[in-house]
Amino acid sequence: MSEIVDIFDISYDGSGVGKLSDGRIVFVPKCLPNEKVCIDLSEVHSKHCLAKCKEILKKNTNRVEAKCPYFEICGGCDFQHASEQYERELKIEILKRELAKVGYCGQVEFTSSLNRYFYRNKLKLEVKDCQIGYFQARTHKFFRVETCPIADEKILKAFPFVESFLKENNFDGIKNVYFKVVQNKVAICFLFDKNAKIDMKNVKKLQILRDFEVFFAFGDILESDKTKIFSIFGDKINPACVQAFNQVNDYVAKLLYQDILSVAKEKRVVNAYSGQGELTKLLSKDAKYVVGIELQKSAHIVAERICESEKNVKNYCGRVEEILPEMVKEQQFDMIVLDPAREGCKQIVLDTICQCNIQEIVYVSCNFASLVRDLKFLANTYIIEEVKIFDMFPCTANMETKVRLRKK
Ligand SMILES: C[S@@+](CC[C@H](N)C(=O)[O-])C[C@H]1O[C@@H](n2cnc3c(N)ncnc32)[C@H](O)[C@@H]1O
Repeated sequence: MSEIVDIFDISYDGSGVGKLSDGRIVFVPKCLPNEKVCIDLSEVHSKHCLAKCKEILKKNTNRVEAKCPYFEICGGCDFQHASEQYERELKIEILKRELAKVGYCGQVEFTSSLNRYFYRNKLKLEVKDCQIGYFQARTHKFFRVETCPIADEKILKAFPFVESFLKENNFDGIKNVYFKVVQNKVAICFLFDKNAKIDMKNVKKLQILRDFEVFFAFGDILESDKTKIFSIFGDKINPACVQAFNQVNDYVAKLLYQDILSVAKEKRVVNAYSGQGELTKLLSKDAKYVVGIELQKSAHIVAERICESEKNVKNYCGRVEEILPEMVKEQQFDMIVLDPAREGCKQIVLDTICQCNIQEIVYVSCNFASLVRDLKFLANTYIIEEVKIFDMFPCTANMETKVRLRKK
């Protein structure tokens, strides 16, 4: 059933927010505040609904044409239909509203990406019938893609070669294909079910992919230590670099790291959830000493390698919640960088920080829910001094937030 609604707000995940005639809140993806739209309900709940926009009856003046041909069906981008300036305003507004929940009503600075498009250095695509694509928003309905305008253009050039290779082989048990730009080269990693048996003797036409580095991995997700990865073609990229987490936007990641470095001079620093150790290495230049803690083995291996010449660095491989409580009994720290995965920090990590003498926290997060939850607890002991958005994911409602806190 169709209904006409006024969009009066934006939700944290980038949907327009309106009110149905019965008073329920409705979320309408790809709509902007101050628009009047005709909608079809797609999910109905007791207090709120989700809807698809059928027609825009009144446009927000900041609406622009989306660059992507799949924008309407894809779940990847939320803001391609907003001007760059308006996207920035919306992101600041969204973050301010989230941080008001922990009593912060100060400034929010915004650092832009160098490019709004073609910035992503990694992509994960679905594979179906030898084609590559994505799932439609909030479904598992596959659609084929020939482009993805937020991806690095080197990755996009690889798409047709990958499909040709898939057609030659018609693999059983293939789930995803990952693309990652490492040292300016494109790594292509085919992810198979963990029980799939691929006999390399039967693999056909590998030379189709001769301009790329090719990997086969077996497991549920690429970044898991349980997944086994093998180099199939090329020797320039270490498989550990393909498997380990990396920030998707090199330019913004550099600015974020520089920003953290600027407050680390002469300090004793813990870099918790440290990934491949790029920030650890950078911090070692100015800090007194740095300890990196990272769970994933591949990322730890890379971190060990890139930090090997730094005398004031120690990298641990393990869980922050297990290593930190023991470490602070023996060593003093002035500052901790927290950059956890989406689920945020375990309570024992927050307890440990509050109970020891760490004066300063730099909390980096890409998830409001866990950030706000953790800040609520930290706010008893620390005061928020600074909040910055690093626009790591333009065109999407995701944002990298950096919050600097000081002990009261
Ligand atoms: C958002 S990434 C940040 C990585 C790094 N700071 C960077 O800038 O590239 C989170 C990292 O935390 C790691 N991780 C997840 N859970 C962890 C845990 N319990 N203890 C230590 N590291 C963990 C992940 O493997 C991932 O590398």
